Amino acid sequence: MITINQLMAMKQRGEKITCLTCYDASFSRLLERAGVELILVGDSLGMVLQGHDSTLPVTMDDMIYHARCVTRQSGSALYIVDLPYHSYLTVESALQNAQRLMEQGGAQMVKLEGAMMDVVSALVDQGYPVCAHLGLLPQSVNELGGYHVQGRSEEQAQIILDDAIALQQAGASLLVLECVPASLGKRISLALDIPVIGIGAGVDCDGQVLVLYDALGITPGKRPRFSKDFLAENEDIAAALKAYVRAVKDELFPAAEHSF
Ligand code: KIV
Repeated sequence: MITINQLMAMKQRGEKITCLTCYDASFSRLLERAGVELILVGDSLGMVLQGHDSTLPVTMDDMIYHARCVTRQSGSALYIVDLPYHSYLTVESALQNAQRLMEQGGAQMVKLEGAMMDVVSALVDQGYPVCAHLGLLPQSVNELGGYHVQGRSEEQAQIILDDAIALQQAGASLLVLECVPASLGKRISLALDIPVIGIGAGVDCDGQVLVLYDALGITPGKRPRFSKDFLAENEDIAAALKAYVRAVKDELFPAAEHSF
């Protein structure tokens, strides 16, 4: 398994970290073979698998079921699993649900959205590695009024930067940064010691993540600007996944057209 120390070393030597979401065993094997370092069982499964228009209806039982499918034949990637909506409202519920994701789902790290410093530090104190998530927070889509780029004004950007630093201080091991201007992605990646994994946050983040179905061009509806269909220019899924890994490592993805 890739360790947090290895990910930190990759950041220090400037080697880009690759991550894709995954929801089942077959794709888990393909992602391992393609060489991604991080596999994220994302609550985006509510949208791309279950057909909801947000991630809010996803339950703990859904996450455990798909996490188990993905992690059953574990390889060398690090498995991160999302804590779903309302599963970490209190420190107590966060601890209980993180334990379930690790023990029943096979998670090696849990991910949660927002500036939840108290929850992060309680989880880390109890030995649960945490990936934080800032910028566009899909679980807060109703408060945000839609899926929009965050951190465009200097004031908003400073809040996200301050939250990122506070989450690192609380003990987060990784940060996913979603849909912010590329200049802010760079600023936060430079300011933090922990790796920053961007999605729509520009090429200067320490790594990249995409929703698997976006990377294969099979998500119904309009393709988000920050994603790319890697299957369109490759002969099969295995080749498309390898092309994604190569493009991220070579800093060819995301290009300016995928950034804000
Ligand atoms: O659930 C998910 O797929 C995610 C990615 C958007 C990073 O959190």
